[in-house]
Amino acid sequence: MCGIIGYTGTDGAVGDVLLTGLEGLEYRGYDSAGVAIADESLAVHKREGEVAALEAALPDTGLGGTAGIGHTRWSTHGPPTDANAHPHTDCAESVAVVHNGIIENYQTLRADLEAGGHEFTSETDTEVIPHLIETALATGASPEAAFREAVSQLEGSYAVAAVFPGSETVYAARHESPLVLGIGDDGHYLASDVPAFIEYTDRVVYLEDGQFARVNPSGIVVTDAQGAVVETAVEQIAWDPEDAGKAGYDHYMLKEINEQPQALRQCLRERVSELDGTVTIDELAALEPTGPVQFVACGTSYHAALYGARFLRAQGVPAQCFLASEYTVDQLPVGEETLVVGVTQSGETADTMSALRAANRVGATTLALTNTVGSSAARECDHVMYIRAGPEISVAATKTFASQQVALAMLAATLAGETPTALCERLRALPDQVQQVLDMSNARAVAEAYEASDAYFFIGRGYNAPVALEGALKMKEITYKHAEGFAAGELKHGPLALVGEQTPVFAMVTGDASASKTLGNIKEVEARDAPVVAVTDSPAVVGQYADHVLEVPSAGPRLTPVLANVQLQLVAYWVANRLGRSIDKPRNLAKSVTVE
Ligand code: F6R
Repeated sequence: MCGIIGYTGTDGAVGDVLLTGLEGLEYRGYDSAGVAIADESLAVHKREGEVAALEAALPDTGLGGTAGIGHTRWSTHGPPTDANAHPHTDCAESVAVVHNGIIENYQTLRADLEAGGHEFTSETDTEVIPHLIETALATGASPEAAFREAVSQLEGSYAVAAVFPGSETVYAARHESPLVLGIGDDGHYLASDVPAFIEYTDRVVYLEDGQFARVNPSGIVVTDAQGAVVETAVEQIAWDPEDAGKAGYDHYMLKEINEQPQALRQCLRERVSELDGTVTIDELAALEPTGPVQFVACGTSYHAALYGARFLRAQGVPAQCFLASEYTVDQLPVGEETLVVGVTQSGETADTMSALRAANRVGATTLALTNTVGSSAARECDHVMYIRAGPEISVAATKTFASQQVALAMLAATLAGETPTALCERLRALPDQVQQVLDMSNARAVAEAYEASDAYFFIGRGYNAPVALEGALKMKEITYKHAEGFAAGELKHGPLALVGEQTPVFAMVTGDASASKTLGNIKEVEARDAPVVAVTDSPAVVGQYADHVLEVPSAGPRLTPVLANVQLQLVAYWVANRLGRSIDKPRNLAKSVTVE
């Protein structure tokens, strides 16, 4: 998804900061990149492809200047070409603009501007912004007034930043797309996300919807839509640059899979007492007992929500799950008594935000379960619970999924009012058990055995059913191979027609009452010559039914699936690794999907 970086400082570091920032934003997914430096005139450089392609095209003499903006683009309007890459300028090159989001009224604006003689050089919705600014400048408006005038005409979602020739100021505004300001010693930053400038500063100010920022080498001024100065709070970010590096792993994904014990410890810290079976989530102290719970989420987070909803129901709390993009408040019983929980690691996913905003509008209580402090979800919901997984750079979500599962188990306890002491004990033991899985896993050998298969199927029942869906999603997104996950009982209602000797079936059989039924499903696929990989905490019994076993320790019927999922993450990783895929940045995918 598009990423923005901006810097203004008198230390001659503009070029370096912008390029470092673009690299720090790569994890969001993108297909072209560019920078604009404001000196006496504007210098704009942009290229289709990776940041490295842009760097190769830059002048050897460096970029110079005091103020600059940069952008990684993830195509929405028009293909990834040099012309469609940001920054965009007006006819006279009097301003350069970068934008993240979607301008919904761009066609009308563009038609009016073209009728007024403006010539466009790209297919993007963004390009209307510099032309609108040019129009306002022509009436004698100052750069700031022209920027505000242009932004006031935009409908849709945007984080936008602009620089003008001969000016040290970066102007910015946001509406429903993230933008954060950074306070440095020698200059000031702005970006879509903190990793873009964390190497330089950990002091940040989050811009709110409807706010504007004037960023100068000497300071930052935030104003509201009317131009009144707004008091802002400077927050200290706990991430250090080391956290965001690969720390010796070949890929962020493998690093993040291996970080899961630590992520879960952080998630559980000071929240679970195994002595008396209590769970205390400080952030949720003000959450009153509510009626039914509705989860809204996408992708991996949706799978976590399916798992969490089952946990809630088991503790007597009625809970349903909705794909955020399919959530319609007017067709559902959503009222003041409903708790709508958005499960979203980024806190910026457009579909999830749209569902949460709809729930807010009808007066439901909203809760964000997120990894990202200061994200849109965290700020716009009535309540927020952090999963505390730490930064996740790989596009494929791994440690955030495990942390969501554990956070949802704790949320269930909070909403139910009590938790069995045994479950608290199991939660506390879970990080060490994940470590055990990581230490003993034979997933790499299994991956090697099946790397040439045509397709992969994943089956599980109960708490394992969402893990089957997640196992398939991970496999398809990073290996580019066909993979499907099913509730095990569904296999015989259609998908069995696809099963054969080239389609290994991964079956999660962990110690719950439904395990014997899943063994029956294994027999069905074996009869069709499909290889079976059992992921199980009972290898002695289940191993007799399988070609390979991926063993996990037992964490009880509800939590063992968390461990089974770690094995599936590793299998997907090693198949993708053997196939030489772009594991951290799979094709066509973005880390943070900020369009609907
Ligand atoms: C897959 C993956 C995506 C995200 C989905 C929602 O590995 O990461 O399916 O889970 O785009 O993202 P968040 O959780 O940020 O709302």
